[in-house]
Amino acid sequence: MQQLTLDNIDIPSLPPVAVMVLNLAEKETTSLDELNDIISRDMSFSSRVLKIANSPFYGRHEIADIPSAINMIGFKAMVSLVVGAASRDIYRKTNKFENRLWEHSMAVSLAASLVSERTRAAKPDEALVAGLMHDTGKAVLSYNLEKIYAEVIEMAERTGCTYVEVESKVIGYDHTDAGGVVARAWNLPKSLQTVMENHHKETYDKSISPHDKVLCDIVRIADSICLNRGLGFYKAVPVERQAMDRLGFTDEICEKIIEELPEKFIQQRERFFD
Ligand SMILES: [Fe+2]
Ligand SMILES: [Fe+2]
Repeated sequence: MQQLTLDNIDIPSLPPVAVMVLNLAEKETTSLDELNDIISRDMSFSSRVLKIANSPFYGRHEIADIPSAINMIGFKAMVSLVVGAASRDIYRKTNKFENRLWEHSMAVSLAASLVSERTRAAKPDEALVAGLMHDTGKAVLSYNLEKIYAEVIEMAERTGCTYVEVESKVIGYDHTDAGGVVARAWNLPKSLQTVMENHHKETYDKSISPHDKVLCDIVRIADSICLNRGLGFYKAVPVERQAMDRLGFTDEICEKIIEELPEKFIQQRERFFD
């Protein structure tokens, strides 16, 4: 087997515009002008963002420039749009499982925003970005080890073991380890690094802030809802009770989200499939 360690992993580059926008979103005070400046400087990104802003999802307005797009869809939605478009590029590099990985990430981002909206445990936009990025480690593993990762997916589906278990066995480490390396290499905000590295942990390290623990709980709940619904991948997994209790996420809210998710997912997909 090709030896791939966390030190020699080949990390695709994240467009600088996405890193700048993510860091801007982390600041306490930011202005629309700053966001406009960053996006407008990147021509190819600007045109993609405009295309999405003019898509049916937003009601097909005639939006010709970035400031109008930001005004219409709002600062936070624009941040997730830029990150979504950037992470779509990363998934394009993963060949065989591109669509499944991407669909899974989009579904989890949507479910995570619904979970935080209903529980008010975190800001829905923040949860949306965390959901979009949570499994980037899988995309990077698949990008580095295409054939081996195809076996991992096949084995996880056939045996009923979790991806983390199969990855550790076959590769020697898992997608959250890879996710942590990638998040640091891209210089992503701390909360995203934490989610990418800890979203499968049931107990968290003391060094993780209460806010980031909540984000990890939200993403893990959203992840299991999507896996149970077969969004991207199928896996029968219980929604973790402890995390549900910590967030005040009841069975009723869970049922409601499970019911709404497929239709909302179709709308969400329209935004990012170009
Ligand atoms: Fe994961
Ligand atoms: Fe996932």
